[in-house]
Amino acid sequence: EDSPSRQVGASPAGPLAKVRHAAPMLSLDNAFSEEDVADFIGRVRRYLNLAPDEPIAITAEPKIDGLSCSLRYEKGVLVLAATRGDGTTGEDVTPNVRTIADIPEHLGTNEAVIPDVLEVRGEVYMSKADFAALNERQAEAGGKIFANPRNAAAGSLRQKDAAITAARPLRFLAHGWGEASELPADTQCDMMRAISGWGLPVSEDFLRFGDLEAALAHYRAIEAKRADLPFDIDGVVYKVDRLDWQRRLGQVARAPRWAIAHKFPAEKAQTTLKAIDIQVGRTGKLTPVARLEPVNVGGVTVTNATLHNADEIERLGVRPGDRIVIQRAGDVIPQVLENLTPDEERPPYVFPVECPECGSDAVREEGEVDIRCTGGLICPAQRVERLRHFVSRHALDIEGLGLVHIESFFRDSLIQSPADIFKLTKDQLLTRERWAELSAANLIAAIDARRAPPLDRFLFALGIRHVGEVTARDLARRYRSFGNLMAMIDRALAVRAETQPTPAEPERKFTQRRDKAVVAVIDTPNIGPEVANAILDFFEEPHNREVVDDILASGVQPQDVVHETRASPVSGKTLVFTGSLETLSRDEAKAQAELRGAKVSGSVSAKTDLVIAGPGAGSKLKKAQELGIEVIDEARWAEIVVASSP
Ligand code: IVH
Repeated sequence: EDSPSRQVGASPAGPLAKVRHAAPMLSLDNAFSEEDVADFIGRVRRYLNLAPDEPIAITAEPKIDGLSCSLRYEKGVLVLAATRGDGTTGEDVTPNVRTIADIPEHLGTNEAVIPDVLEVRGEVYMSKADFAALNERQAEAGGKIFANPRNAAAGSLRQKDAAITAARPLRFLAHGWGEASELPADTQCDMMRAISGWGLPVSEDFLRFGDLEAALAHYRAIEAKRADLPFDIDGVVYKVDRLDWQRRLGQVARAPRWAIAHKFPAEKAQTTLKAIDIQVGRTGKLTPVARLEPVNVGGVTVTNATLHNADEIERLGVRPGDRIVIQRAGDVIPQVLENLTPDEERPPYVFPVECPECGSDAVREEGEVDIRCTGGLICPAQRVERLRHFVSRHALDIEGLGLVHIESFFRDSLIQSPADIFKLTKDQLLTRERWAELSAANLIAAIDARRAPPLDRFLFALGIRHVGEVTARDLARRYRSFGNLMAMIDRALAVRAETQPTPAEPERKFTQRRDKAVVAVIDTPNIGPEVANAILDFFEEPHNREVVDDILASGVQPQDVVHETRASPVSGKTLVFTGSLETLSRDEAKAQAELRGAKVSGSVSAKTDLVIAGPGAGSKLKKAQELGIEVIDEARWAEIVVASSP
């Protein structure tokens, strides 16, 4: 009871062991209005090719503001519990979870047979009352005060010492499952009923609805009693009830196509704007930040809000000293909504014309809202932000190398560019204050663990404008190795440089023609002119090439993409779908084909290997027959898909 760790207990002492999830832990796309939810249902209908009058049953339940946790039961016994982490890899919190009373050690039997392997997924949370009481105890003991129940739950679960977790009042609500050796039901609702029957708590407000209108009424009812609920929720989650439909819908990036979170409107508050500071981002963008008189917004103390850009400051007419309205929604940075004192006499805020970090000119490019520092890599703020992005969770994910370390290593010239990270030695760390044998060895090990990053993470880490995680993945899938990709980029750069305007060709026509040529070389799904040019701009800049070469020279080897597609009779082939498909949408068919290593083209040519023709197929089918290309129907395609499914 008197152990100091129990009183302080803010964060785990040392890292928890990593666990790779058997099935990824997904996140959810958000809807902010009833129209957004209707759009979601529309997308589901289109993707599944459902008739307009075919009912789509959906479930609706509160979105608990906690942290997600996966509980693995083997033969009904709890064997592993893990946090979500980045969705692929989380942390082992098994001993901690065993202290949570809501979570049974053994699943109880009911009419549904317990699968041999079952991962139950749900939310670990703390009630509002327990949170307040915990903070009171923490204050008395001189321990950490938590900002909100969710942070308190996360801090309590992610402990090295499970005795600390045991002393914290954590709760659990199941909302789904991960790996399962078999499923005893074929709808979301019946599965949740089974999970509840096995002894895991499921929300009392989990219900199934025959149509959207009924589900939206449930949303309004939950919103109305939100303040009276014993725990924080931040919206309602809808899920397509039929599991066969969920399977067909699959996922995009990290979120399923069959579920959506309908968020509650943002909470608002009034406060005073104390000052406007300028932050310089990774691409040099100057972002004004409002420093505020601290104010409580929906249970969270807010001291900063974003003002987005110079135009926004002008639109709001805000100056330090004004009373303002701010709003906070979920995890996003609070925003300034309105100026309540625009008529008070005060000089207007003047946006800087120089970068506050490096003194270079700050300019607004034509047609852009953002003002950018022109200092590029001489600007320390941009360099630090690039480094921070490079090591961040969805990029190289170097654990233990947070902003504080990056800034101090940068200031002391230990790390100037990403390659320096991989040249860091334990001895260098040991000469620094507050670094000891173990912490230094841990960081070096974390860095070493990232010397062979997946190609897509590596590309994302480079911080190329417009190349987010999804585009990085598209590029990695298409080119498979960094060498291939660079060869393509050099070809595209040459094409861009060689494409010259013809006399009398209008500027716009020329740009279009050149963009088209460049996009054709890049030849990657979803990459159009804007992204293509951004990629080329990046690699045209000699300094960026140098940075990349240095990273590779420091012993980093991006991994080739090998197991991305399933072995199938169509892998490496070019397919054309034509005519109408009856059980599939075009997008779905294309996704099935691509997952099996095929390329889908819109037109039949000598390069086409296989044509899938439905009723009403016309000229493409004729051409395929003339060229002697194999033609199959949708039913045969379905057989190929099933035969090459995992
Ligand atoms: S379903 C495949 N249902 O919200 C769908 N998630 O923003 C996975 N969450 O990581 C989630 N309440 O931790 C689902 N009723 C609920 C939820 C819920 C809270 C969390 C969950 C997830 C996050 C996504």
